[in-house]
Amino acid sequence: MSSLEQTLSIIKPDAVERNLENKIKSFFTEKNLKILKSKKIKISKDEASEFYKVHQTKPFYDALCTYLSSGPIIVMILEGENAVLKNRELMGATDPSKAEEGTLRKMYGISIDKNSVHGSDSVENAKTEIGFFFK
Ligand code: CMP
Repeated sequence: MSSLEQTLSIIKPDAVERNLENKIKSFFTEKNLKILKSKKIKISKDEASEFYKVHQTKPFYDALCTYLSSGPIIVMILEGENAVLKNRELMGATDPSKAEEGTLRKMYGISIDKNSVHGSDSVENAKTEIGFFFK
């Protein structure tokens, strides 16, 4: 079954720093995910901690929040058929060394922390995450 969905995508500091914004955006649009909104921002550690609060009990939480707030990021609303799952397929596994060929994290990811992109993991979380960045 297919449904028109929106999802949140973030181009993380490691990818912004390497000027991968246009390449990553083209990758999405070529795969029929439309970029409805996009903005380049820098968030504080407190904002990153709020955004990633589902991970607050994880051992990597503090480093993750420090990292997301370490430099400019691009936040985007992507729209398309089954956009949530599709974006996750296009990103590949969280750990770039385990990601499939042709996925964004395989192509650009440096490590499990510097894995270049974030994408919402469910339709419900996509709504929350979109609301977080696009009030
Ligand atoms: P992301 O999809 O942005 O969601 C949470 C992030 O935590 C994840 O990408 C990784 O960059 C980061 N992370 C760091 N260590 C781990 C780990 N062991 N398991 C899952 N995610 C991790």
